[in-house]
Amino acid sequence: MKSVATLFEQASKTRLHAYAPYSKFSVGACLETATGELFSACNVENASYGLCVCAESSAIAAMVAAGSNKEIKQIMVVVSGPGVSAPCGGCRQRLNEFAKPEAIIHLCDLEGAHETYSLGELLPHAFGPEDVFPSLNKEPVKQ
Ligand code: THU
Repeated sequence: MKSVATLFEQASKTRLHAYAPYSKFSVGACLETATGELFSACNVENASYGLCVCAESSAIAAMVAAGSNKEIKQIMVVVSGPGVSAPCGGCRQRLNEFAKPEAIIHLCDLEGAHETYSLGELLPHAFGPEDVFPSLNKEPVKQ
């Protein structure tokens, strides 16, 4: 597993590329896959506000587009602060698609705050792939 410092450096660097002229709230995210690849991204806003894309969501998209291993072991989310920000509900659900409940979510600001949660803590009783794909359940299909 990569160090917290490595993830923080990557996420912070990418946060500087955030396109956030509307909220002025820049977010950087860096995720690590089970095979050690890192994917970083930032938030990208739009004049049609509902189309804003979160940093975490973009990092996941980069991972998928790269064709790499798709199990997320940890992710770092950096905001300027003061204080950390946790992924929005939508991003928690997107993370759940590619991460186990034990996956680590690091939240940092630029002033030294660092909080760590598991995905299971942030998204308890999650609905995920195993609810949809009968083959992932060890039970017969219920019609
Ligand atoms: N944002 C993220 O990038 N990640 C989150 O988990 C929460 C919100 C972005 C979206 C928008 O560009 C800005 O932060 C303010 O909501």
